This record gives sequence, C-alpha cells and structure tokens, in this order.
Amino acid sequence: MEAFVDRAVGEISGIQGRVLCGVSGGIDSTVAALLIHRAIGDRLHGVFIDNGLLRQDEGDEIEAIFRDNFHVNFTAVSAAERFLEGLRGVADPEAKRKAVGEEFVRVFSEFAERNGPFSWLAQGTLYPDVIESAVIKSHHNVGGLPDWLDLKVLEPLRDLYKDEVREIARILGVPDRIVRRHPFPGPGLAVRIIGEVTPAKLRVARTASRIVEDVLLEAGVYDDVWQAYAAVGDDRAVGVVGDERRYGSIVMVRVVNSVDAMTADWTRLSHETLERISNRITNEIEDVTWVTYTISSKPPATIEPQ
Ligand code: XMP
Repeated sequence: MEAFVDRAVGEISGIQGRVLCGVSGGIDSTVAALLIHRAIGDRLHGVFIDNGLLRQDEGDEIEAIFRDNFHVNFTAVSAAERFLEGLRGVADPEAKRKAVGEEFVRVFSEFAERNGPFSWLAQGTLYPDVIESAVIKSHHNVGGLPDWLDLKVLEPLRDLYKDEVREIARILGVPDRIVRRHPFPGPGLAVRIIGEVTPAKLRVARTASRIVEDVLLEAGVYDDVWQAYAAVGDDRAVGVVGDERRYGSIVMVRVVNSVDAMTADWTRLSHETLERISNRITNEIEDVTWVTYTISSKPPATIEPQ
C-alpha cells in the first residue's frame, strides 16, 4: 500500500487545474482527498455536503480533521432541506437513490460555479461500489457525471477494497476513529428507511443506529463487525407503556460481518447484547414499540434494505 500511495501521488501530481473533492465524513472520501492533497496541495478543495441523511454528529469531526489536522481547503454546505424536499413522496429504493444522487450533482455544480473554475470532481469510489452499482444497486457516486457539469472524474481508489483503504488511511495519518468507523452508504439514512423518508423516520433511524453502535462499543465488539445500524419502515405494532396501549414503530437492527461487502453474514451477537440494544431503543425512543433482529445474510439479502 505504501507503493500504491507513491504511485497514486505521482500520477495525480501530473494533472492540470483545480480539483473539487466531495467528502462525506467516511474513510473512502477522506483518503481520496488526502492523497490528492499530498499530490497537488492547495489546488484541491474539499466540500462536505450536509444532506440531512447523515449519522448523528457526522460532519463536525471531519471538518476539524480537514481544516486543523491536514490544512486542506474545505467548505461545509448545509443542504438538508433541499435533499429532503427532493425525497418527499418518493418510496421506491432506486428512485430514492436517484433523487439523492441528482441533488448531490446539483449542489456540487452550484458550488463549482461559484468557487471555480474546477477541472475535476474527485470521489472516494471503491472497486465494490463499481461492481455493485452495475448489478445490484445504483450507488450514488458511480456512473459518471452529466455532460453539462463539464468536470472530469478523478477516482484514485477505484481499484481498491475497503481493507486496503484502511491501510492507506493509517499510512496517511488519518485519526484512528475515522479508520475504525463502519462504512456508511452515500445516500445515507435514505436507504436505511423503508418507504418514504420523513423527519419522524429519520429521527428513529438516526437515534436507534447510534444506540446500536454505542452498545457494540461498550460490549467491545464494534471493531469485529462490518456494519451495525437500525432501519425503520412504516410497519407498526401494538405495545404497552405503563397501563397504556401504544401503536408504535418496528425497528430492525442489522449487524453483519463481511470482508468486502460483496457477501455478508449476520452477526451472532450475544443475547445480552441484543437485550441491551432492544431495551435502550424502546426506552429512549418513545415511538418504538418493537425491536427485531435481521438474520438474513447476503445473498440473498443485501446489507442495506433499500
Ligand atoms: P449492499 O446494501 O448493496 O451494500 O449490500 C454493500 C455495501 O455498500 C454500501 N453502500 C453504498 N456505498 N454508495 C456507497 O458509497 C452507495 O450508494 C451505497 N449503497 C450501499 C453499503 O453500506 C455496504 O457497505
């Protein structure tokens, strides 16, 4: 991987013009941006788009890392309202992916127009993204850009797997908490919410996912699993709180082991850990009455439900 870094930096330093890099807070785009920064310094500009579909507290950390640790030109754009507006009334999984992907392109192009000229748009696309996008789900960052955007695509990690990217991150000095962080899909919580994305479902998915991650960290198993989160749909089930009936949401907890995301196995968590997750979710999120655990592997299921 050290040889890869030297080669990539050498190749990227030959490109002309300025590069706009979409950074998501995840490891892939962080590593892509830092590799490019090493090659061309201030000709790189990192842009983080808050699309309202992120994990809890995501964004603040990445801003600190880019600005303070690595001194990369960096802008955070607040765009939650327009992403949620674009998703209103959209329930089909692929239509949701398309809505998010198109909004990303619009926000990037507006930024490029105002702060340009830029010649390239860089992304942290990995090899499994390219494969998956071709056959299973259209990943938000694969498939090229519309002609009118007039930017060439730079994807320095396109031939790599996640474990290789983690190794490069360590070589580049990325803080351990980013290197350890589980993968998160580009369309974010939109693909962890079944059916239409609403503020209420977003709240449930975000809070419940944070609880799942917290419990796994406490139990010391966070680093042993590939991804861990909670999804929510429109199904409801009757519960009882005190003496009262409550018709609340059903949350689906999903924890999987995987090597490259192409296949995955559901994680045999201990009953104690499952119980802790369930108790915390129903105690801390008023709307949730039932918690289920998904025991489908990939294939035939996929890791994200949408
Ligand atoms: P699935 O759900 O297809 O996901 O089993 C495989 C891996 O890819 C992640 N994923 C995405 N990553 N853009 C991404 O960058 C996307 O649109 C996207 N959709 C899914 C997913 O979290 C899992 O790690």
